[in-house]
Amino acid sequence: MVRRLRLISGLVLFGYVLTHLLNHALGLISFDALEAGGAVFTAFWRSWPLTILLYGALLVHLALALVAIFARERLMMEPAEALRYLMGVLIVPLAALHVLGTRFTHAVYGVDDSYLYIVTVQVVFDVTIAIQQAALVVVVWLHGCIGLHLWLRLKPWYGRIASTALALAVFVPTLALGGFLSAAREVLRLAEDPDWVGEVLRQANIPSPEAIAEIGLLRDGLVIGFFALLALTLLARLLWRIWKRRRGMVRLTYPGDRRVTVAKGTTVLDASRLGGIAHASVCGGRGRCSTCRVRVGRGGAMLPPPSGEERRVLARVGAAPNVRLACQTSVLADCEVTPMLPPASGPRAARPRPGYLQGDEREIAILFADLRGFTTLSEDRLPYDVVFILNRYFTAMGTAVEDAGGRIDKFIGDGVMALFGIEKGIAAGSRNAMEAARLMARSLDELNRSLASDLEQPLRIGIGLHSGAAIVGEMGYGRATSVTAIGDAVNTASRLEALTKDYAAQLIVSAPLAAHAGLDLSTFPKHQIDVRGRSAPLDIHVLADAQMLPPPAGDS
Ligand code: FES
Repeated sequence: MVRRLRLISGLVLFGYVLTHLLNHALGLISFDALEAGGAVFTAFWRSWPLTILLYGALLVHLALALVAIFARERLMMEPAEALRYLMGVLIVPLAALHVLGTRFTHAVYGVDDSYLYIVTVQVVFDVTIAIQQAALVVVVWLHGCIGLHLWLRLKPWYGRIASTALALAVFVPTLALGGFLSAAREVLRLAEDPDWVGEVLRQANIPSPEAIAEIGLLRDGLVIGFFALLALTLLARLLWRIWKRRRGMVRLTYPGDRRVTVAKGTTVLDASRLGGIAHASVCGGRGRCSTCRVRVGRGGAMLPPPSGEERRVLARVGAAPNVRLACQTSVLADCEVTPMLPPASGPRAARPRPGYLQGDEREIAILFADLRGFTTLSEDRLPYDVVFILNRYFTAMGTAVEDAGGRIDKFIGDGVMALFGIEKGIAAGSRNAMEAARLMARSLDELNRSLASDLEQPLRIGIGLHSGAAIVGEMGYGRATSVTAIGDAVNTASRLEALTKDYAAQLIVSAPLAAHAGLDLSTFPKHQIDVRGRSAPLDIHVLADAQMLPPPAGDS
């Protein structure tokens, strides 16, 4: 709720700033266009509903920013966030004069704060105000854009619009400043006539010198008040942390027996940061990205239950019951935690993911394929040629697997392992695996024709297909993490591929896979083999050429 309020209030303020800057940009067209835009802008934003919305959003945003500072365990933060905070702090002193000099003087002293009046005051009487206001444009825009970026970078579509958004982020303030400069040049030209300046000030109904002094005092009061509030927040944060430490300490144990002792009530993410343990946190600890998630071991029962929001984020990534968001979980007793993502994980890791990635037992079809005699074939060849031929082969095999609806698990040496039916189920997976074998054989023939002048002998492969229960999940470390499967069914498929040598065949299909696929392979030679881990022998079908398989009936 708090995060949503901060976001909504930020969006309202961003809308105000954006329309204000677009209004400035009209100065590039003409002064009349600038004033006409200003009339629409003020009519809109100075209506009562919008006034309440705007100033309400301002107060809420400011208050929640102070709350966020108070709640931070550490003031260290990623550069983008630090820049956003810095810009946020600078906005207040820069914007105070802007608001008091325009809307406030209009409402209290009846000043006609038209562009003509404002630009004249700034460029004719005190150019430092113009410089300050130009700085305000940059500061407030940067603050808003960073906030938007930190929010949107978790969206799956953000990557597609990021460069356009960046271009707009540069264009809008550039056009706004250009519009202001254009208006300033026009005013300076007209101001060569002192009577013109006097007339502008008279028509604007400028405030008296006493009123101007009052406005100055008010501005100083606002700025001092803001910094006093900020200092009080930091002081309160310090006292709160001291009090928390007196409530007692707890110890978190990380993999590798690394231990961090922190005050009771500290979140797991803050504990990692305090202990110097690198920990992914794409959203900066706002409970939105899920990249900070940890598997909780001993002591997990003592953790407070997850909030509804945390539950929702965890469900989005299919997290297991013993997984928690480190940034949302306060530690009240000693416990063991294991961060689940590499510290350098990016926004991609925050996207919704199928539940099986965390580990699941599923009935799937597995394909193993291996090049025959490639070691001999690669002898006396330049490494470049070997890599070239292998990459052509991998491309052909990978394409065949994907065209058939499978997923390449890995390339091992000159072998291929592929999985089918993880999401669609074993029947579709078995049919797809057979289709993949057929397409692989066909692609290999085409490849052999294409490489005929480079090869003394055509490439040959052996393919083994089997289906059964396997443990599926995302496994590995760092960048070498991928979806894979382990279990007896996988070993059996590998064994069938190896047996193709003994049977001098291109393809061996296990009877269970053929049954799942609903294909009658009784016309092909059938054998029985013993497989380690199986109590009963396994029936297999042996095909000299995988292209002899019938094409799929429809489902793929
Ligand atoms: S850091 Fe993003 S959810 Fe915890």
